[in-house]
Amino acid sequence: MTQVREFLSKADIAARVTELGAEIRRAAGADTPVHLVGVLKGAFVFLADVMREIGGDVSCDFIAVSSYVGTQSTGQVQILKDLGHSIEGRYVVIVEDIVDTGLTLAYLQGVLRTRAPKSLTTACLLSKPSRRKVNVPVEHIGFTIEDRFVVGYGLDVNERYRNLPFIGLVQGGD
Ligand code: IMP
Repeated sequence: MTQVREFLSKADIAARVTELGAEIRRAAGADTPVHLVGVLKGAFVFLADVMREIGGDVSCDFIAVSSYVGTQSTGQVQILKDLGHSIEGRYVVIVEDIVDTGLTLAYLQGVLRTRAPKSLTTACLLSKPSRRKVNVPVEHIGFTIEDRFVVGYGLDVNERYRNLPFIGLVQGGD
């Protein structure tokens, strides 16, 4: 039977998300409207929480990309759902759940940069630097972790476990 072992608790995540929200606001400046671009589906839980910790004028939009089948990166990135609003001239922060090889984020940053935002930075909850295949800038990182496959708090394996309030490691098979 599959079990999930807790790796980062609900309280650990909440504390770090509060710090990240303050960090994002500090970087933007008090009066700058911040436009978050959440990467579906994994980032929606993190985005919902961090958005409420930024303060001031904050809006959000979502983009959906596909890059994975199972647990291996194919490097094939496709936009499945594009943004609903223009980002031209806006202070944009990409919100990602996890940066693994960096291929998804590098692709997204490239696409979004062509749309002329005033600023384009990235916030991710988790980063696995040992897995990087491309050097991609990430200004705000929640937790740096080892090369482990994690689930929960929006992260899935084959669409399961997104609803876990903590981040955990999958043990065993189904
Ligand atoms: P990258 O393009 O390899 O950086 O992959 C980024 C995407 O792969 C993330 O947005 C996740 O959807 C997925 N991913 C990478 N590592 C994990 C993991 O440990 N658990 C769940 N999803 C992951």
